[in-house]
Amino acid sequence: MSSTGPASFAPTQQSGMSRLVTVNEAPGTSEAVRLCAELESGNILYFPRTPFSFPEGDLQFLLASKQTGGSYHKNIAYRPAEHRITGLDKSAGADADRLRAIMREYSRRADQFLGELLPPYARRWKLDFASYRPLEERGRPARLRARNDLPHVDAFPTRPTRGDRILRLFTNINPRQNRVWITTQTFDVLGPRFAQAIGLPRAKSTNSVARAARSLAQMLGLPGAHRSPYDDFMHRCHNAMKEDAEFQESCAKQRWEFPPNSTWIVLTDFVSHAVLEGQYALEQTFIVSHEAMVQPEKSPLAILEGLAGHALTS
Ligand code: SIN
Ligand code: FE
Repeated sequence: MSSTGPASFAPTQQSGMSRLVTVNEAPGTSEAVRLCAELESGNILYFPRTPFSFPEGDLQFLLASKQTGGSYHKNIAYRPAEHRITGLDKSAGADADRLRAIMREYSRRADQFLGELLPPYARRWKLDFASYRPLEERGRPARLRARNDLPHVDAFPTRPTRGDRILRLFTNINPRQNRVWITTQTFDVLGPRFAQAIGLPRAKSTNSVARAARSLAQMLGLPGAHRSPYDDFMHRCHNAMKEDAEFQESCAKQRWEFPPNSTWIVLTDFVSHAVLEGQYALEQTFIVSHEAMVQPEKSPLAILEGLAGHALTS
């Protein structure tokens, strides 16, 4: 394990690069707008100590749980709205109930903590999935587009956001090992670059056949039926970044090491990121309304609409 903490990797801020904003104490309400602005500028809010409690027994249970069957290479997802877990081995048996209860508690605490930290966003988000990541990330096999060790911006093909933001809170629960990330330039730089490579998003087709197909997909509740041109672009951009060997090789990179028991928060649709090493992390995703942004002009949606010259979500 490296003993170097994350702060030492952020000497000065270059344009389009992320900076670490360390939060040691609960900030006052007037600080909240600044913290939102830091996130929206592509910076990482970093808590050297996880700012909410976590029962020791639950931690030990998580660290001891091993996936052995066919689902081994998957992270475990928790869906708070349904109180349901996916990606777990069938062999987990009774452990599944305990794991589900632990994930509910993590999700609840993360939600409550973020609500207190960032009042401008609070109650203007949808609590999305949480996840438990018990696998060693170094060398973890995955399809190219599913690899998390290649820098990318996040986009969920079956959970379109229509311009709302993907905000993620991570906690390293590994007692010994850092979680190692790299970030590259942020979306204000990469959006225009990849728009040139993959083409600007087009406005939604208004022809009657396309409209009818969309309504039918929505009526049937098909996954992704509410995808907008914005979502299509972000998903293509996610893939193009991972598939672009030249970009992966030559992009400016910053390396971050998140030590045991630290927590960090990032807008991962704006900060291009990858995980290189680490095992045992928890994560909660929030889909924050675009209308809650304190600097809406900096969002990926605003950047892309500025380039395209037309709306991308209506
Ligand atoms: C990712 O969101 O790409 C992975 C981050 C992590 O698991 O630390
Ligand atoms: Fe990601």
